[in-house]
Amino acid sequence: MPRELSLAEIFQIGYYWETKILLTAVKLDLFSALDSRSDSASDLAHRLTLDERALSLLLHALVAMRVLTKHEDRFANTAVARKHLVKAGPDYVGHLLVLHDSEWTNWGKLEETVRTGVSPVRRHVFETDPEMGANVLAVLDRIGRGSGVTLAKVLQLDGVEHMLDVGGGAGTNAIAFCREYPRLRATVFDLPATLPVTERSIKEAGLEDRIAVMPGNFNTDSLGGRYDLVLLSDVLHYQDAQANAALVHKSFAHLTDTGRLVIKDRFLDPDRTSPAWTTAFAVHILVNTEEGRCFTTREAMGWMNRAGFASVTELEPRAIVQGIKAGDD
Ligand SMILES: C[S@@+](CC[C@H](N)C(=O)[O-])C[C@H]1O[C@@H](n2cnc3c(N)ncnc32)[C@H](O)[C@@H]1O
Repeated sequence: MPRELSLAEIFQIGYYWETKILLTAVKLDLFSALDSRSDSASDLAHRLTLDERALSLLLHALVAMRVLTKHEDRFANTAVARKHLVKAGPDYVGHLLVLHDSEWTNWGKLEETVRTGVSPVRRHVFETDPEMGANVLAVLDRIGRGSGVTLAKVLQLDGVEHMLDVGGGAGTNAIAFCREYPRLRATVFDLPATLPVTERSIKEAGLEDRIAVMPGNFNTDSLGGRYDLVLLSDVLHYQDAQANAALVHKSFAHLTDTGRLVIKDRFLDPDRTSPAWTTAFAVHILVNTEEGRCFTTREAMGWMNRAGFASVTELEPRAIVQGIKAGDD
């Protein structure tokens, strides 16, 4: 049983000022403006056409938050800010924080959503703002490369010749899988607006001869041919159970007789109170998608059983389920 919260911790949870200060600084791109130099509030305000008094308050708070430093009257990036929050750098992650900032208005409608059950948005970010979606995918790709390799090892794909990565985004998993299994070929299926990012990552990985892309909407379009493996990684939480059951059914039809479907997602435990991050993510999904939800592995396994998979197993609690199309007999 976890220990009870103190009053101080309750206040800490209710206190979001620093969050919005950081997100605003990223949105204003203060870190890129500072880059490797140091600047006074007045010079920075002048350069960026901002209000000096207001900017100065923000900069001082960022120093207290240890994102910036201050010497005399000059502000500079800390090492971590210079590495990850300066736009021109190869390790920039600001796109993800800009996305969080853009979702602020939706979070502001949480009370209304809980009263009415109606989400403030009609579609998710990959449909409404493909450019932002693509930028975020590029960041997720960069910070998620290790997870693709781990997943490739867990799945034991020797003998798998052709995989379909449905909603494959930047191709993180397809690339990791092809690197791990030299005889594997992959097709990444995604919305047309996302695929330029996918193509860029495939080219950077030098895997153009083994990874193809296929544009389409996985709810309405054919998934192409037949595959030994279909992967649904972090896509099912954008839509409701009915759409997911239909997509699992469609995936089944696109598998070879011995093929398998793997679903990797942010699943909740059966009583839905853990993992803690996922319970909060489920609320994020509530206000930032029309129909999205976080599911349990049991629900995902139910979709597989109903689609006709002969063998359905949970490979990793709260993370990976697998359905094999045909039984041993
Ligand atoms: C969170 S990303 C996951 C990317 C990747 N599978 C991974 O695990 O890194 C969700 C992806 O689903 C794609 N997507 C969302 N709705 C889609 C749809 N209806 N048809 C095809 N792709 C879709 C988005 O463009 C995006 O690339």
